[in-house]
Amino acid sequence: MVKPKQEAQQNDNVTKPPVQANSYYNELYRPQFHYSPEANWMNDPNGMVFHKGEYHLFYQYHPYDAKWGPMHWGHAVSKDLVHWEHRPVAFTPDHNGDIFSGSIVVDHNNTSGFGKDALVALYTQNKDGHQVQSLAYSTDDGNTWTKYEGNPIMKDFPDPDWRDPKVFWHEETKSWIMPLAAKDKVMLYTSPNLKDWSFASEYKPQNASGATLLECPELFPLPVDGEKDKQKWVLTTSLGDGAIAGGSGMEYYVGTFDGKTFTPDKPEAEWIDYGADFYAGVTWENAPNNDQYRTMIAWMSNWKYANDTPTSAWRSAMTVPRKLELKTSQNGEVKLVQSPIQELETLRGKEKSYPSQVIKPNTNFLANAKGDTVELVADFKVDEMTTSKAFGFRVRKGDDQATSIGYNNEKKTIYLDRSFSGESYFNDQFAKVHEAPLEPVDGHVKMRILVDRSSVELFGNDGQVSITDQIFPKGSSDGIELFSSDGDVTLESLHVYPLNRIWGNSLFHSNLSGWEALNGRWADTISGTQGSDTVDSFKLADSRGKDFTYETDVKIGNQGAGGLVFRSDKTAKNAYVATIDQPGQMVKLWKKVDGEASILATYPAKIDPETTNHLKVTTEGKEIKVHFNDQLAIRTKDNSLSSGYFGLNVWNGTSTFQNVNTYPKK
Ligand code: FRU
Repeated sequence: MVKPKQEAQQNDNVTKPPVQANSYYNELYRPQFHYSPEANWMNDPNGMVFHKGEYHLFYQYHPYDAKWGPMHWGHAVSKDLVHWEHRPVAFTPDHNGDIFSGSIVVDHNNTSGFGKDALVALYTQNKDGHQVQSLAYSTDDGNTWTKYEGNPIMKDFPDPDWRDPKVFWHEETKSWIMPLAAKDKVMLYTSPNLKDWSFASEYKPQNASGATLLECPELFPLPVDGEKDKQKWVLTTSLGDGAIAGGSGMEYYVGTFDGKTFTPDKPEAEWIDYGADFYAGVTWENAPNNDQYRTMIAWMSNWKYANDTPTSAWRSAMTVPRKLELKTSQNGEVKLVQSPIQELETLRGKEKSYPSQVIKPNTNFLANAKGDTVELVADFKVDEMTTSKAFGFRVRKGDDQATSIGYNNEKKTIYLDRSFSGESYFNDQFAKVHEAPLEPVDGHVKMRILVDRSSVELFGNDGQVSITDQIFPKGSSDGIELFSSDGDVTLESLHVYPLNRIWGNSLFHSNLSGWEALNGRWADTISGTQGSDTVDSFKLADSRGKDFTYETDVKIGNQGAGGLVFRSDKTAKNAYVATIDQPGQMVKLWKKVDGEASILATYPAKIDPETTNHLKVTTEGKEIKVHFNDQLAIRTKDNSLSSGYFGLNVWNGTSTFQNVNTYPKK
């Protein structure tokens, strides 16, 4: 017997078992150990609260686009602040407006009456350029939320900019305190019950000119040098524009707070981070160690180009969680120092350590080091023997790319140079050097560097300064170099660690494999694989079928259509498509023949946004049947295409597909 050729076999009824390289969280620029949403746009971290062993991270989220738009709150939780579990969207816009930034507190004493230990969220709602504050609560540990019937709880503020409540409990005055950003000022309000708020004071930072927009303020106490009886208060603010590295950035002030008024020790602000991509940072409420240090996460982007960075199908990541402490600096001033939280060290792979040695120009003893996710911990001796003008590392190095991190020994600055780091076409201010002043401490300059697929975070001298920047290098740019320019420097010690990824496997269930998007934005999410586009967009699996059953659970997002593609060629120029169409309120069977689309049949159906429906296609020769929620919707005959690939289609919106399976026709 002659065996049929492989090709011929493929044309028959087939469903191959899934053998798939892990494509989940594996795109070119996808952060491997930073939080990023599975798909779509993210900005500020919101509602960060520790509750019953879980760290909650909510965030500004647009579930239907990779650009900023009507804001929702996305949600994720973590037990260790390192690995994250995605949760469904927590808040969607309502008649009071879109859901802007805000915070969550645990109401330990039931001051609100929502219940002991209820989680209470306070957030801004934005509607027609007017902002109000609203409240929602959860009595099931953050799984479900009830929006308060008295919303908005704060309104009628004359200025359009009035937002981003970051609420905390002030034990001394037994009241809740809410800082709000109001254009160029921070306003403080107090409340006994989280519902009724009274104005307490306002603080207009010196650096904030009339033209400057402040956002996301936070006020928290910290011990100085670890001594609990030497407490100071820190006021942090995000500056919409004009920050040290251009565009948006964060500042802070150290001072005192009496329950109503914040008084800074000195009027001048300090930068929290000297890079371009550190914004809207806030710290975890109710975290176990809050009396010793605060844990901050910031949005790792910049409003100058946030909407245009070259990632797909998601946009933006958070910084790693950082430990913030107050320490007395060499000049006697009390300053914030920050370091990656200790838990991140669990991601370290096999350590490589290098002994103390003198580094000369044009030698590279790290020649074999490589990695697109690495941590470098270096200690250089900088004294009168040091002739080097600049020294440090080049990371994500390829033939024509490198990101340089160094110490300029003439200027006494530590810097991050992303001029040649990779893609920068989306903004002409992106390819720049960012620097921070840094004096050696006892003749040492220390660098701690976290490198991910599209970011570098640099901490100088145990976190006295930090520089955080996004970069967009080629995947192949993974070299690491150590350099010294124009002279020698002594490297005291160096440890290099590969860092493991924090993401598990895709939760998209399908007995098809080898999925490839032809166009549009596609990503796997906790609810299945999601496609998004304004035009028709296709994703095909690598197996073909002739007569079969093919089915999916499908959810249309806010608009558009989505459905099953079958008997398709490799480019979807010839294909059948069975979709559910939300604007048309119908099930639709259509085909493309040589790129020309035509409708074969339609069936009226109620299709609600964000509702899961079941769609099933069965074929037998010319006959095609489409079932919608187990009802026969379409039964027709067509003889244009007899076999081909299985796939998915979305049009003019965002659709999510789960349990995409095919079976041989019985
Ligand atoms: C800061 C910010 C906030 C606002 C939110 C809107 O990045 O502009 O002031 O609440 O983002 O998404």
